[in-house]
Amino acid sequence: MVGFISFVTLAIALAAPVTAFPAHVSLAGLSREELDMAMSGFGPYSTPPPPPGPLEFGGTKLVNDAEHPFMDPKDTDIRGPCPALNTLANHGYINRNGIDTPSNIVRAAMEGFNMHNNLAKFTCYSAFVVNGNMVTDLLSIGEKSAKTGPDPPQPAIVGGLNTHNVFEGDSSMTRADFYDNGDVESFNETLFQGFIEYSYRFGGGRYNLTAAGEYRLKRTLDGIQNNPTFTIASPRLFSAYSESVNPINLWVDGRQDDGQLRLDHARSFFEAARFPDDFHRPARPMTADNEEVVLAAHPIEPGGNINGVNTYTVDPNSPRLPDKCSIYEHHVNYTLRTLYPNPTGNLLDAIRANVHYFYTSVQERGCTEIYPYGRVEDGENNAYYASPDFPEVDLPDYGTFPYPPVDLPEYCDTPAPAAVEAAPETAAEAAPEALAT
Ligand code: HEM
Repeated sequence: MVGFISFVTLAIALAAPVTAFPAHVSLAGLSREELDMAMSGFGPYSTPPPPPGPLEFGGTKLVNDAEHPFMDPKDTDIRGPCPALNTLANHGYINRNGIDTPSNIVRAAMEGFNMHNNLAKFTCYSAFVVNGNMVTDLLSIGEKSAKTGPDPPQPAIVGGLNTHNVFEGDSSMTRADFYDNGDVESFNETLFQGFIEYSYRFGGGRYNLTAAGEYRLKRTLDGIQNNPTFTIASPRLFSAYSESVNPINLWVDGRQDDGQLRLDHARSFFEAARFPDDFHRPARPMTADNEEVVLAAHPIEPGGNINGVNTYTVDPNSPRLPDKCSIYEHHVNYTLRTLYPNPTGNLLDAIRANVHYFYTSVQERGCTEIYPYGRVEDGENNAYYASPDFPEVDLPDYGTFPYPPVDLPEYCDTPAPAAVEAAPETAAEAAPEALAT
């Protein structure tokens, strides 16, 4: 029996065309030793380092500073569906080429946006373990790239953040659904006009929790009514609600600190991926816990269309918000294990380490650590280091949820620059009275 997301993941993974990646990195048919050697093409393997802890200074400060100037990405640089990571790359907080390590991405999310350490780890590692290369410790923030290193064996995808339905998903606020045209990355002006409209109608000209609650419902209904493959079950459930409140928590200048996002600042982040001039990060490390306010406005059960548009069906097997423990557990036990059914050697070591780093993001919530690839103590409280042949644990039965398979996007190393070359017309120009500070 397979769960909802894992069924989708499996369908995507098994449908992956062999030609999706250059032939010289194909690892099919190699022995374990050959595989390990091939995987070390990016230097000798060592267990990936843990993510950084909380910031020493967690207050507000200028982050659009002289050391981090905005620079347009080069043609070869990768950008993706997350406007915040695109911003961090455009300002050099992460590698400007759009490929970096998870620990550096966590550090940058804290440094640039004052994202709480636990939220930064939860977001980053939940995406990294399904979209990144755990052996080379590299993640593409957009499309699949050979620069993250040789692929592990299929059904692993290592497709970068653009990969649909293992983390990226439907009902984004300013990006189209994968079903619409396969482009989950580009800023969409029509959708952003909806964001603006809802901010005027429900937020008095600012994007706030009230506007967020209404706009989240609108985007969900858009998907149910227009996208036959629409789904908003775990892990998309968490990311959709987190992304609804991130702009309120993380994009309001720390000196303003009132949870009311200016719309010219919203455009600067969403479209141009650029810190507004003189932008100061939030006044304290910010979680996404107020996503519960957005959920409470119009509670939506996780699920998806199962037989065309307007056939939304609740998925009884998907974890629900705000149960982060179950979201973590489901993601590791199902989505990850579907992609990595039988890892060995360095890959297994890297997976164990990353799964543990992911766990540290929910540790303070009292969640129980799980060991989907076995558990062995090393005598120093590092339970995830284990002999490679440790027996598998029994998996819980999440049941079956019907879902039509989706087509894979065409992956290539040519960046799609549309999302990062925009010259934003500010919302202040569009409606100056409502935006006066
Ligand atoms: C820490 C590592 C992070 C990762 C791995 C990550 C990943 C992603 C991904 C994959 C998406 C696309 C989701 C989708 O549309 O289906 C996304 C969207 C988004 N992210 Fe991030 N993100 C991170 C950090 C942040 C931070 C620090 C912020 C805010 C400051 C942020 C704000 C957003 C917003 C607002 C969206 C929604 C875009 C939209 O709906 O149009 N993210 N992120």
